[in-house]
Amino acid sequence: MEKKQIRFGVIGCGLMGKEFASAAARWLHLADVDFQPSIVAVCDANPAATQWFTEHVPSVQAAYSDYKELLADESVDAVYCAVPHNLHAQIYVDIIQAGKHLLGEKPFGIDAQANAVIEQALRDNPGVIVRCSSEFPFFPGAQQIVQWVNENRFGRIIEVEAGFWHSSDLDPTKVINWKRRIATNGEYGCMGDLGMHVLHLPIRFGWKPANVRALLSKIVEERPDGKGGQAACETWDNAILACEVETADQKFPMVLSTKRIAPGHANTWFIRIQGTEFSAEFTTKNPKQVASLPYAPGGVQAWHVADAPYKSAYGTITGGIFEFGFSDSILQMWAAFCDELTSGGQMQQPFRCATPEEAAGSHRVFTAALESQRTGQTVAIDWRD
Ligand SMILES: NC(=O)c1ccc[n+]([C@@H]2O[C@H](COP(=O)([O-])OP(=O)(O)OC[C@H]3O[C@@H](n4cnc5c(N)ncnc54)[C@H](O)[C@@H]3O)[C@@H](O)[C@H]2O)c1
Repeated sequence: MEKKQIRFGVIGCGLMGKEFASAAARWLHLADVDFQPSIVAVCDANPAATQWFTEHVPSVQAAYSDYKELLADESVDAVYCAVPHNLHAQIYVDIIQAGKHLLGEKPFGIDAQANAVIEQALRDNPGVIVRCSSEFPFFPGAQQIVQWVNENRFGRIIEVEAGFWHSSDLDPTKVINWKRRIATNGEYGCMGDLGMHVLHLPIRFGWKPANVRALLSKIVEERPDGKGGQAACETWDNAILACEVETADQKFPMVLSTKRIAPGHANTWFIRIQGTEFSAEFTTKNPKQVASLPYAPGGVQAWHVADAPYKSAYGTITGGIFEFGFSDSILQMWAAFCDELTSGGQMQQPFRCATPEEAAGSHRVFTAALESQRTGQTVAIDWRD
């Protein structure tokens, strides 16, 4: 099959820039797609970061240190941008105004004001397709939950819990990086860093928090600065957000948590939904398993824990008996973005990447959470435009 080539530029060649390169390099993993990304240009302020690409990615024809040069490169159709949060607004707006499609990293702006600037650029340039990176909903177990929600299986929803927990910052000897500084990561701290992953499905399901009471904590107060001294950790390590969701016909509590310091958790993303007729949960801690509990009045309450087959949104060469992992979810997300760039509304499967509107929704929640932390009050969230 002749595949349509989508020529990408990558701005920010760190951890996530490389993940995209890896996904693009194993595109043959996808069984039946007629589109393919090709990384033709890269840009990083640090030349050592682009060197990895020029050495490992044969399609790269140009390496820049100034992203404006990459945006002027006519061979680039679309951009993946994975830079620290303080740079999102300026660089995303310039990408959009250059007429390039964009998969941007979360949180889509360091704060609500920066996010609003990006939103305005989108309104001014409706021809570009812009999506926000969020890969965990592409795990087969998460896709199963999406299907159950779409089928209205749950009855009256009793409560929802969703979270994303890390523990890499439990080690106080870890050298400080940009994610611990307000200037580069923002006042949201762990919410900006991890929260879009947690809110993606609830917002997609229409479960917008009407209010939030936040408990934010700073646990490791300072870290080595890498130069022999200590530096203050300025950002929130952990966040617990107790929300009330009101939909047209339901009202239920939803607890969202983002934690950088959750002992025993490396990269645990989860969602649990309890309902009067059906309950379900999926966690990347047990990536093969999805649990469900159907209930009829007076009946047995028994969890069914099934090994979720390797059944991804886009078919792959991997047999159904094998396991799905983080890099598979990244590949699936990239397939969804490239599918949308190729086919618009006629995607091969219906689950699209997180939208800028969904990212903007996450900013409403994080901004209200900061106010709740400051005041100690429950803060209402206004979803009107
Ligand atoms: N989707 C995910 O699972 C996931 C995981 C980690 C990080 N992220 C997001 O990805 C983004 C980057 O995070 P990361 O962990 O890859 O960071 P990183 O520090 O590994 O990489 C960022 C890169 O941006 C470069 N950079 C800085 N200023 C630049 C500029 N002006 N022009 C070009 N390049 C510049 C840095 O030199 C660095 O190489 C953030 O928005 C973060 O929230 C997403």
